[in-house]
Amino acid sequence: MNNLKSIIPLSVIILACTAMTYNPTAVTESKLKGTKIQPKHETVLAPVEDTTKWVAPETAQQLKNPTESNEATKAEGAIVYKKNCRSCHGKDGDGQGAEAADLKTKPTDFRDTNFSKQSDGSMLWKIQKGRGDMTAFEKDLTEDEIWKTINYIRSFSK
Ligand code: HEC
Repeated sequence: MNNLKSIIPLSVIILACTAMTYNPTAVTESKLKGTKIQPKHETVLAPVEDTTKWVAPETAQQLKNPTESNEATKAEGAIVYKKNCRSCHGKDGDGQGAEAADLKTKPTDFRDTNFSKQSDGSMLWKIQKGRGDMTAFEKDLTEDEIWKTINYIRSFSK
């Protein structure tokens, strides 16, 4: 009876030890030796480029440009453009600025009719909000500056 009492704890210890050393992955690992195992946690997601059509909200589309498109306002817009937009959209508005090649998204070609057919209000909203590689200018440019820049960028398609 005494023997039995000491056997029970002993077998518990033995069982525990076997459980600890038993490693079901060890077999698979040794089988896979030499093959490169990709650690799961290092999966890198490719950057997702937003190629969906960019549409401004209806209320923004309805906004009217309060500035008249004339030589004076276009000249003011040209100054803003040269400083803030040309590096990406290019000096002729063709989307081939010096920085364009380094971007994930091609800067919009302002001569494209798909671009120019949208309203000034729609453009204002996109310039203010930005998307991906397109900078948001809400904080850096006043509405007046943006409206005049729109007068200027429209002249690329004429
Ligand atoms: C760092 C590069 C960069 C700069 C600087 C930049 N843009 Fe853009 N712009 C882009 C890219 C890229 C897109 C296309 C974004 C998209 O479709 O997701 C774009 C899109 C736009 C669009 C929307 C075109 C459409 O789909 O209707 C307008 C309008 C625009 N830019 C105007 C401007 C103006 C005005 C400035 C300067 C005040 C400017 N951008 C400065 C990169 C730039």
